[in-house]
Amino acid sequence: MSEGLQATIHFTVNGEPRSVTAHPLTRLLDILREDLGLTGTKEGCGEGECGACAVLLNGEVVNSCLIPILQLQDSAITTIEGLASNSTGRYLQEAFVACGGAQCGICTPGMIVAACNLLERTPHPSDDALRDGLSGNLCRCTGYTRSFEAVRVAASKLGKVAAR
Ligand code: FES
Ligand code: FES
Repeated sequence: MSEGLQATIHFTVNGEPRSVTAHPLTRLLDILREDLGLTGTKEGCGEGECGACAVLLNGEVVNSCLIPILQLQDSAITTIEGLASNSTGRYLQEAFVACGGAQCGICTPGMIVAACNLLERTPHPSDDALRDGLSGNLCRCTGYTRSFEAVRVAASKLGKVAAR
């Protein structure tokens, strides 16, 4: 990486306008954690394999360790912190704790980002859709059963709230 090269990128993070100046190949993951102090997004593999660093980029789940900031001009990023104010994100966080879907917690923010995206597109996912929706998120601790249960619990709670 040529150290002198810099780019200024304007984008939104969790709805707030942000500008960062950095080498154009700087990873979104590092901008979030180091420049913006949003440490909820975790680094696992750093190679696009585990999903721990997942965020939403213009509404799509991406691994932020693979996204250079040069791709982000005028984009909208949502991190796990931004999902705390959204009822789907909040119910998911509560259900992951209640169901034991969060153990060491490294995978949990990325898992919740992916699950939130899944439930907003498919409010009542089948088991196959659930497995597919979380297939990019690896967990070394839970064996997935509890994480999948947490997503089902959150989906059911959201369904009850919507039916009121
Ligand atoms: Fe980004 Fe693993 S840290 S996919
Ligand atoms: Fe530890 Fe998933 S809870 S990696």
